[in-house]
Amino acid sequence: MSRMFHLGFFSSFSPPAWHAATDRAHGENWATGAYHADLARRVEEACFDFLFFEDTSGVSRTRGGTMDADLRNSHSTPKNDPVALLSYLSAVTGRLGLIATASTTLYPPYLLARLFSTIDGLSGGRAGWNIVTSSEEEAAHNFGYDVLPTPAERYDRAEEFTDVARKLWNSWDEDAVVRDYENGIHTDPAKVHEINHVGKHFTVRGPLNSLPSPQRTPVLAQAGGSPRGRDFAARNAELIMATTTGGIEAMKAFREDIHGRMKTFGRSPDSCRVMYATHLHVSGDGHDPRRDATDAQLAAMLGKHAAHIGLDLFRYDLDAPLPADVTSNGTTSMLESLKEKGRQGISLRDAILDLCLGEDELGLVGAPERVAENLAGAMEEVGGDGFIVMATQNANAAHTDAILDGVVPHLKQLGAMRTAYAGPTLRENLFAF
Ligand SMILES: Cc1cc2nc3c(=O)[nH]c(=O)nc-3n(C[C@H](O)[C@H](O)[C@H](O)COP(=O)(O)O)c2cc1C
Repeated sequence: MSRMFHLGFFSSFSPPAWHAATDRAHGENWATGAYHADLARRVEEACFDFLFFEDTSGVSRTRGGTMDADLRNSHSTPKNDPVALLSYLSAVTGRLGLIATASTTLYPPYLLARLFSTIDGLSGGRAGWNIVTSSEEEAAHNFGYDVLPTPAERYDRAEEFTDVARKLWNSWDEDAVVRDYENGIHTDPAKVHEINHVGKHFTVRGPLNSLPSPQRTPVLAQAGGSPRGRDFAARNAELIMATTTGGIEAMKAFREDIHGRMKTFGRSPDSCRVMYATHLHVSGDGHDPRRDATDAQLAAMLGKHAAHIGLDLFRYDLDAPLPADVTSNGTTSMLESLKEKGRQGISLRDAILDLCLGEDELGLVGAPERVAENLAGAMEEVGGDGFIVMATQNANAAHTDAILDGVVPHLKQLGAMRTAYAGPTLRENLFAF
């Protein structure tokens, strides 16, 4: 390998793999945090850069307007708050980066800035914030909106939100805390500043009332796929996440596109890492796990996409391509991917399986050696910066073992991933190479 690449592990604070026939009891205690604490320790032992938690904020009603599909199939529910989980994981790990998702459409910026500053303090500088604008109508209804704002409105708000959060994190000078016992001064008042932000969406006086944290700002992560989302990411993010959909050429094109956009915002491409979320299907016999998907699992995958896209996908014929003229107010890029598959004559069923379980364009199905070699080969061709390993609908203890005990040692042998952390903070590790 000419250069090592970074690795993240994708998770959710929800019941792991309850569908998996071999593993139904596994993770019953997930809400105590015990399952994810164990996962975090193992991911840290393997030297991943970070453990990542996606999030959404509502029980979805995308099948015929009822909650049945989500509750029965558990595609988004139950799901507990990942930011709270990070404080627990901070205490049981020492070097692993900890990234949680929180929405700029649903949170107020002051509350979010204070929360992540606190997590960064608790973890000694290992916190990351996955900035999402939220695409679920149900979540909007839980936070006082009559309708979910349009994607453009959500990104407008996200831009202002992120500026406010950044101002709050920088509202204390580096040397504000003096702890001068003789003169009785803990913090020098001249070094803590109001931000006096008055904008279209927020009015925030500041300063933040929490202690500046080791990284000061959490690592800012984002995964916008639409042109507007990419601009937002290029302006703000230090970790930009995409998928491997479309294979090497699409991955390269995405990275180049992001680098180009960063330059127009006056940023060096070196100030951001582009990482690709992907599924690994490690097995001795190399069989395709998509053939194992049960009806319940397929319904869960369909429901998850329906919730993100904001469209009742259950209304459409699973064995026909999704019609090209459907529209929605949710995740634009996800709907576009399904419609593109439809234009290629691919049925909705196969399109969902492809998107949820990966199309194996990179050769990531099979023996651990093969998966490791193909990950390394793909990264050499793309030029950087790493992968985020996703748990699939079939994810369970065996799946985690296959990645951590099977693929990881081969990646290390190939010199493709780190064998020791560079430093105590997530940012140091993410930018060490
Ligand atoms: C790796 C990855 C993780 C994501 N995590 C979340 C998440 O936790 N919550 C969420 O609402 N959206 C999540 N998304 C969706 C994106 O944040 C983004 O909202 C989506 O791509 C829609 O943006 P777009 O309309 O600009 O394409 C994720 C996407 C990717 C690729």
